[in-house]
Amino acid sequence: MDKTTHDYWQAKDYARHANYVSALADAVMRDLAPQAGERILDLGCGDGALGALMLQQGAKVLGIDSSANLVEVAQARGVDARVGDAQNIQFVGEFDAVFSNAALHWMPRQQDLMARVFRALKSGGRFVVEMGGAGNIALIRRALTEILAERGIDFARRDPWIFPTPDEQRTRLEQAGFKVIKCHLHPRPTPLPTDVRGWFETYCNEILFDLSNADRADVIDHMVERLRPQICDAKGIWTVDYVRLNFVAVKP
Ligand code: BEZ
Repeated sequence: MDKTTHDYWQAKDYARHANYVSALADAVMRDLAPQAGERILDLGCGDGALGALMLQQGAKVLGIDSSANLVEVAQARGVDARVGDAQNIQFVGEFDAVFSNAALHWMPRQQDLMARVFRALKSGGRFVVEMGGAGNIALIRRALTEILAERGIDFARRDPWIFPTPDEQRTRLEQAGFKVIKCHLHPRPTPLPTDVRGWFETYCNEILFDLSNADRADVIDHMVERLRPQICDAKGIWTVDYVRLNFVAVKP
C-alpha cells in the first residue's frame, strides 16, 4: 500500500513530543558531512529540521515524506519537500548522497528500497542512514503486543516497523550493489521531552487507526500504566529503549 493514502502524523504533536529526533542526529549528520553544491535526497524528511541544516551547509536538498502535515513544515523551513512514499522513488543517477534519519524502519520493502536508492545515486554517491535496529523499543512492543492481545488484536499483523540486525542490513545493501563502509547497532536509551502518552499519540495512530476514540484512549491508558514501572523514573522522566542502526554505504 502507498504510505501516503492516509496522514497519521500531526505536525504539532511531532514538534512537542518528538523534537529529540533531530536534536540527537549529530552522529548521522557527521557521517553525511554535507558539502556545498551537493544534491542530497532526504528519505522521510519529516519536518525538515535536518534538511534545513544541510541547506545551511550549501547542499541542495530534496525531501520526501509520506506526511503532508510534516512536508508543509519542511517547506516552511525552505526545504524542497514533496509528499510521497520513499519506497517508490524513481530517480536515476541524480544524487551525491541519499540520507535518512529515523524513517527507514517505517518502510517494509527494504530490499526494493535499497535497489531504488542505488539507482538514484551517482556513481561514488553515498547512502547514510540512522534507523531503529534489532531490539528497538522492545519494552514498548511487548506492552503493545500484550495489551492489544487482551482486546483480541494481533499486534504482529499490524506491526508497521522493521528493525533489522546489522547482518541483515549489510546483506541487503550488498545485494543491491553497495560497498558497505560501516553498519553497526548501538543502544541509545532516550529520555522523552514529554511522556510516553505523547509518544503513543505521535507514533501509534497507524496501529490503532480502526479503534473507536474510547478504545484507543483505553489502550493508551493501559500502555502508560504497564510501562510506568519499567521506563519512568522517580522524577517522572520517561526513557524509551531505542536501539540505533547506523550505516554508510557507497555506490562503487
Ligand atoms: C524510532 O525512531 O526508532 C521509532 C520512532 C517511533 C516509532 C518507532 C520507532
